[in-house]
Amino acid sequence: MAYSRGMQFSISDDRLLSIRNLLYRIKLKRIQGNTAELGVFRGGTSRYIADLMGKHGKTHYAIDSFDGLPEPKKQDGKVLKKIWKDRGGDFFKYSYAKVEHYFKPLTNIKIINGFFPDCVTVEMENDRYSFVHLDGDIYQTTLDGLEFFWPRMNVGGIIAIDDYGCRKTPGCKIAFDEYFKGNMPRIYDKTLPQIHIMKGNDDIRI
Ligand SMILES: C[S@@+](CC[C@H](N)C(=O)[O-])C[C@H]1O[C@@H](n2cnc3c(N)ncnc32)[C@H](O)[C@@H]1O
Repeated sequence: MAYSRGMQFSISDDRLLSIRNLLYRIKLKRIQGNTAELGVFRGGTSRYIADLMGKHGKTHYAIDSFDGLPEPKKQDGKVLKKIWKDRGGDFFKYSYAKVEHYFKPLTNIKIINGFFPDCVTVEMENDRYSFVHLDGDIYQTTLDGLEFFWPRMNVGGIIAIDDYGCRKTPGCKIAFDEYFKGNMPRIYDKTLPQIHIMKGNDDIRI
């Protein structure tokens, strides 16, 4: 619980602990490149990543619509679709202004406000990454996130995909399987419901 005190996380402590371990590895191995989180919500995890990695000169992109999840597709399953409909599409909506204020103490966070991938900036396109947390919960966001970030990961860089194999969010695994079909990445760790994939030297999608 130590990590959660006073911070605005929606992920559990064990998931945050695995992110912490991954970030320490990136630091230890001196993997070059900036960091990003796709799916920020109230901002706790992004602030944590930015705080830890800022000391090592890394810029962190915190990407969210702050308008909630886009409408789930059939790949996301009936349960998620129903929750989304019952809430009138107001699922994970949060105030941009509050998150901006929450990030104030840190100077190395860039908030990317909008629906991904439409919100992608030229700077993000030209950048390279050492760590990315994909936490958009749904099929399309996970697929779009992999399509954008995986080719931009530096060797040794890691993408952590949240909710992989999670019963309520089947779209995350479906997107993963679809993207890597026939060309599986190096799986660094699987601490379900997260999967961590590492960019290798021999990865043809570099
Ligand atoms: C589970 S929450 C993120 C929780 C956060 N990572 C944390 O650790 O506290 C999922 C977030 O993904 C965002 N999201 C999902 N798909 C998106 C998309 N295509 N573009 C922008 N934001 C998206 C939602 O707005 C929501 O805030």
